[in-house]
Amino acid sequence: MEFSVKSGSPEKQRSACIVVGVFEPRRLSGTAEQLDEISEGYISNLLRKGDLEGKSGQMLLLHHVPNILSERVLLVGCGKERELDERQYRQIITKTINTLNETGSMEAVCFLSELHVKGRDIYWKVRQAVEAAQDGLYSFDSLKTRKAEARRPLRKIIFNVPTRRELPIGERAVTHALAISEGITTCKNVANMPPNICNPAYLAEQAKILENDYDNVTTTIIGEKEMEELGMGSYLAVGRGSVNESLMSIIKYDGAADDSKPLVLVGKGLTFDSGGISLKPGLGMDEMKYDMGGAAGVLGAMHALAELQLPINVIGILAGCENMPSSNAYRPGDILTTMSGQTVEVLNTDAEGRLVLCDALTYVERFNPDAVIDVATLTGACVVALGAHATGLLSSHNPLAHELLNASEQSGDRAWRLPLWDDYQDQLESPFADFTNLGGKEAGTITAACFLSKFTKKYNWAHLDIAGTAWRGGKNKGSTGRPVSMLTQFLLNRSGQEQGE
Ligand code: BES
Ligand code: MN
Ligand code: ZN
Repeated sequence: MEFSVKSGSPEKQRSACIVVGVFEPRRLSGTAEQLDEISEGYISNLLRKGDLEGKSGQMLLLHHVPNILSERVLLVGCGKERELDERQYRQIITKTINTLNETGSMEAVCFLSELHVKGRDIYWKVRQAVEAAQDGLYSFDSLKTRKAEARRPLRKIIFNVPTRRELPIGERAVTHALAISEGITTCKNVANMPPNICNPAYLAEQAKILENDYDNVTTTIIGEKEMEELGMGSYLAVGRGSVNESLMSIIKYDGAADDSKPLVLVGKGLTFDSGGISLKPGLGMDEMKYDMGGAAGVLGAMHALAELQLPINVIGILAGCENMPSSNAYRPGDILTTMSGQTVEVLNTDAEGRLVLCDALTYVERFNPDAVIDVATLTGACVVALGAHATGLLSSHNPLAHELLNASEQSGDRAWRLPLWDDYQDQLESPFADFTNLGGKEAGTITAACFLSKFTKKYNWAHLDIAGTAWRGGKNKGSTGRPVSMLTQFLLNRSGQEQGE
């Protein structure tokens, strides 16, 4: 899909379709008004007859509107004008794009980017529109032998901005959105891939592709032999039950001088989490192919970053591993020595994510990071606490937590902070080792983060629990591409390039 911005009046457009908003009840937006005037009341007449009320998401496609140069006019219901919020705006755009895609317009000029959304500027509206469009058009069909192809798919969409002065801001929004959408697509493609194809080696291959595609990206892969030498006893234990070798990819993006401290992103990459000897119940177990969603998110953010060529140094880690039961698998009761030297008593082999991440988090100390953010589908408890809407954010460093919350607010990729007080640490006490990998039934998301916090004392650190947000279950099963948007926004902000200037 091609996207661009322009600034023009609706009656002058010569396009396959022109898209304008109608508010509830039957109230024309400014641009719809302009079309109405030139067509001598054609649109208001239809509304009076009851063809469109203006409820949010309603669509009415018109052909041959008198005196209009464009072939079609798509009227889009936008709900009550004062109530148009961010979520509704995105939903309206998604629906519009799907309608255009299914009704033969291969190109369209969209004036919905001019609607007033409370507290949001033109940069935000254009960027969200492009991201929503790309998100809506995504499908994962590379493994279907019969693909559903639209007959005359939408190829190009132009978003209108109110004045010429806003063109550069709009263009910048398109550039940012396209890079982020590319990252999101990368994330979705790798996350949706089945676990018999997407194993740790496949993850590592994806990391290598980034190295091949961008001059300032280098990827190093660490296998089990090197992990042994590094003393990553905990990471190795989790992968021991699988015939697929554990592989950790280190993706290094150089955008600034060597002495500029890097940001480090660490993604949990369990390409399948069966639970191991503490086997999970069968129902819905297929969804544990998404347990590499953290790694997919990091890969996607690195892709967006490389596309944007931001002037910062960033290192992305994909901690690839598979958790399987076997006679060789690690067991409840085992005591592991982590790379940090601290020992862990395993009480449940299904609490494996923290065991992989802790060694990856110790490993990254060597980069002398400015900040480390780990991203993980870590706890079912996070799904209970926050559902599918917000990513859990836990951090021992307030400024970093606020930066991430800001990025989530700006990008619309929401996060919500949970506490990380020392009071919770007691739940990890072990009679035999330094601590256990299980915090009991209360506050599971927090105790998991408490576990990680024991390995992140040497730098500023934040943890994102994406267990509820990384994928959708049910009928529309699939990766959401989260939290690529939030992470990329954070990187944009760190580069001082957050807005239209
Ligand atoms: N990958 C799961 C967490 C998960 C579960 C994410 C469901 C999304 C949906 C993780 O490895 C896990 O199994 N966690 C356990 C931890 C428990 C044993 C302390 C959980 O949440 O039940
Ligand atoms: Mn698990
Ligand atoms: Zn897991």
